[in-house]
Amino acid sequence: MTSATSFLFFAIHLACISTGNSSETFVKLECEEEYHGVYGQQSLLQCIVKAVQNVTILTVTWKRVGGDGDAPLLEYHKHANASTLGFKFAEPSWNKDNMNVSLWLTNTKMADKGEYECMVRTDSGDATATISLSVTAMYKSPTMSSSPENCIKQNTDVTIFCNSTGGHQTGLIWWFDEFGANCTGSAELVAKKTDDTLFSLSSKLTVLKATYSGSTNYSCTVHNTNGVQEGKASFEIPFVCSAGSKDDFASDSTTQWLAPVGVIGSLVIGLLAALLIFKRRSVQRARRQSTFPLMTHLWSSRTSEPYLNLTVDYINEDWKL
Ligand SMILES: *[C@@H]1O[C@H](CO)[C@@H](O)[C@H](O)[C@H]1NC(C)=O
Ligand SMILES: *[C@@H]1O[C@H](CO)[C@@H](O)[C@H](O)[C@H]1NC(C)=O
Ligand SMILES: *[C@@H]1O[C@H](CO)[C@@H](O)[C@H](O)[C@H]1NC(C)=O
Ligand SMILES: *[C@@H]1O[C@H](CO)[C@@H](O)[C@H](O)[C@H]1NC(C)=O
Ligand SMILES: *[C@@H]1O[C@H](CO)[C@@H](O)[C@H](O)[C@H]1NC(C)=O
Repeated sequence: MTSATSFLFFAIHLACISTGNSSETFVKLECEEEYHGVYGQQSLLQCIVKAVQNVTILTVTWKRVGGDGDAPLLEYHKHANASTLGFKFAEPSWNKDNMNVSLWLTNTKMADKGEYECMVRTDSGDATATISLSVTAMYKSPTMSSSPENCIKQNTDVTIFCNSTGGHQTGLIWWFDEFGANCTGSAELVAKKTDDTLFSLSSKLTVLKATYSGSTNYSCTVHNTNGVQEGKASFEIPFVCSAGSKDDFASDSTTQWLAPVGVIGSLVIGLLAALLIFKRRSVQRARRQSTFPLMTHLWSSRTSEPYLNLTVDYINEDWKL
């Protein structure tokens, strides 16, 4: 049993040595099988050179499989780098002793999706591997607005918009009120293709006779064509004016109580003015007629009445002028 297994191992070992005449077995290129890129973002196609001993990299070539011509996207050859705009070594200062030969796409586009091939030649052998890149475009978080924009009166119809851009296929927008009810059925969705192969979505929900007592907070969610949610936003119906005062009834009642306040205010001011004029006149009269009786009366009560005390001071002040 044991002799049989050890013989088997010996045989396998021999076989390996005999077939391993090529140096290729000493160098391997380990790449991720696929990478899911996102439109407008960076992508990393990761490949690492694995060798049983220290090796020196002679050339590295990154190409699109089935791409236009043989032009490499990135090439290291004879100590020189050449690359197409937007493609570079992932390692910032890559050199021939760095086994991380990953490719970096600085700004992933829809057209970048496909198969990529990495070829490495070293002083101990060559290796090639492929990696596939898929690119999706995500819808951005939606923005919401309403028509009318604000100062919405109770019992009027309000149209709420939920807009999003950036998807690469027609997406969906779902609506929910603050109680969690699905109001998507009452909404209208318009999808438009924007110039750079992406879509913009605009969905409008009309809330009939909006009131404080109903739902005042609506949410919308953006989904890609497979139904996966990519964004969410919520919106409070702006019953309040941007100036900060409350709407219809609030402003109505404001005018209702503002009028009496104005009348009372002006009455009070008038009364005060009359009082002041009256006082000044009496003081002047006192001055002119050298009114000892008034003065003596005030002086005599100085100690007993604090209010009169003040009055005296006022008169004295006036006297100096
Ligand atoms: C491989 O290189 C490293 C440094 O570059 C060195 O320390 C190590 O001894 C080398 N190994 C072999 C097997 O040559
Ligand atoms: C290769 O380099 C890239 C960029 O520096 C890095 O993100 C990645 O993790 C590296 N891979 C390995 C296996 O070290
Ligand atoms: C959403 O789109 C509609 C229709 O195109 C537009 O009237 C509205 O202003 C947009 N709202 C936002 C927040 O972009
Ligand atoms: C909301 O309604 C839409 C359309 O009626 C439907 O497709 C969607 O599945 C509903 N979503 C939820 C979470 O119920
Ligand atoms: C509206 O509802 C959402 C959840 O559906 C919540 O996160 C948000 O804070 C609410 N907005 C306001 C202004 O209450």
